[in-house]
Amino acid sequence: MKFEEPEGATPLDPDEMVGLKFDHITTRGELDELEQANITEGLRWLSRRRSGDSLTDDFVRTLHKRLFGEVWDWAGTYRLREKNIGIEPFQISMQLHILLDNARSWAENGTFDPLEAGARFHHRMVQIHPFPNGNGRHARIATDTYLSDCFDHAPIKWASGFDHQSDNARRDAYIAALRSADAGDFDPLLKFVEGSSEAG
Ligand SMILES: Nc1ncnc2c1ncn2[C@@H]1O[C@H](COP(=O)(O)OP(=O)(O)O)[C@@H](O)[C@H]1O
Ligand SMILES: [Mg+2]
Repeated sequence: MKFEEPEGATPLDPDEMVGLKFDHITTRGELDELEQANITEGLRWLSRRRSGDSLTDDFVRTLHKRLFGEVWDWAGTYRLREKNIGIEPFQISMQLHILLDNARSWAENGTFDPLEAGARFHHRMVQIHPFPNGNGRHARIATDTYLSDCFDHAPIKWASGFDHQSDNARRDAYIAALRSADAGDFDPLLKFVEGSSEAG
């Protein structure tokens, strides 16, 4: 079974499709719905969370499992396959560790304004691409958690009213901004997160 993916999404390998916990799914829409229901549950878990350190690999994996674990049995485990986006699988754990340490020091030392710290955290997280799928959705929620926990900052309005899973102008701007950040230019991503964190 193969699903149409929007631009900038990661296709699943056949051995990752095996991890789908429902065997009656035939369309992308059905899968989206199941995942969305799981994410809603995950967000509920996140909002009930009283305290605890969100800059740990345990939290990163637990969050992914809470968001996708009802649908995929590999949720919360790092990918073993190479993807068109992302570093080599064997480097994931080390690079993620470095990112979490850096993010902590940005917050403690005030290296960047909150939104710039958030943008850099988000970009590196999706660039590492720790999981077989769900990296964008997971990293957007992880970034909002970072902003809230470490800066007491409001969440980013990532989709700004659009559906972030499908193709539209806002998603195009988001993917283009990530590609600029890949090339070392963070300005478009900064504009993207700044433009979306204000009222509206
Ligand atoms: N050039 C890129 N550089 C860094 N990250 C990217 C790039 N292109 C796409 N991404 C990220 O990868 C995500 C897609 O990965 P995927 O694992 O399919 O996540 P999801 O299933 O949540 O959409 C996008 O939402 C985006 O966050
Ligand atoms: Mg995907």
